[in-house]
Amino acid sequence: MAEFVGIGYRKDFGNAFLECAEMQPAFIEVAPENWIEVGGYWKNELRKVADKYPIFNHGLSLSIGSPDPVDFDFLEKVKRFQSEWDVKIYSEHLSYSKCDNAHLYDLLPIPFRQDAVDHVSERIQRVQDFLGRKLVIEIVSYYTPVAAEMSEVDFINAILDKADCELLFDINNIYVNGFNHNYDPKGFIDSLDLSRVKYIHMAGHDKVSDDLIIDTHGQPIIDPVFDLFEYSIGKLNGPVPVLLERDFNIPELTELAQELNHLEAICQNVWK
Ligand SMILES: [Fe+2]
Repeated sequence: MAEFVGIGYRKDFGNAFLECAEMQPAFIEVAPENWIEVGGYWKNELRKVADKYPIFNHGLSLSIGSPDPVDFDFLEKVKRFQSEWDVKIYSEHLSYSKCDNAHLYDLLPIPFRQDAVDHVSERIQRVQDFLGRKLVIEIVSYYTPVAAEMSEVDFINAILDKADCELLFDINNIYVNGFNHNYDPKGFIDSLDLSRVKYIHMAGHDKVSDDLIIDTHGQPIIDPVFDLFEYSIGKLNGPVPVLLERDFNIPELTELAQELNHLEAICQNVWK
């Protein structure tokens, strides 16, 4: 069984997930939005998985950067779900996906500005107070910066400090952003407040042209992102959980298990 590396759980894994000898993750991650209202057969399926593996939550719709009010009715449901399933980590995207009460079905970048730092930090603090736990915010991929007045890394560090929250260190997203916006991902990582890292995401992407990568989570992780992972985890104070994300083009479980075990081997090598 893996000690550090978990996997995003999907309903379509079915019984094979619990029967696959090669696939022994350290934990599973689910979006609370996909399970909050679920009962009957699927709830029983999740119970079987939860009996074997700890559950982490990675949310989709909190929209922490939104100008709209925080949706505490939704958060009440999240809180109940996390209590029922003993959820260890609640991460969300440092982005927004709702505006004027409309769902935009995308994770849009927040302007890198001081007024946005103040706005987002205040919202994170209110969410943390309500849930009684730290929010783990994820560095997202973005395709154009919006009205930036400071660097991305200064923006993220300022929110971590002001909101006193934790960081989901998505190393593939940093690689993708570095490529698309022409900066050195290692330099970005060197400037990031790594003392806040609580959780890591690793994924594959699609290079669609010479100067554009799309963060699809639809391919295996490429070697330069594995290299960046090894570089990054060596800079942390100690081990944190690592998730293998795969949302499209899902291969056989045995193939996913190989990728998971590759990540686990790097973790064991660096952290043991
Ligand atoms: Fe991620």
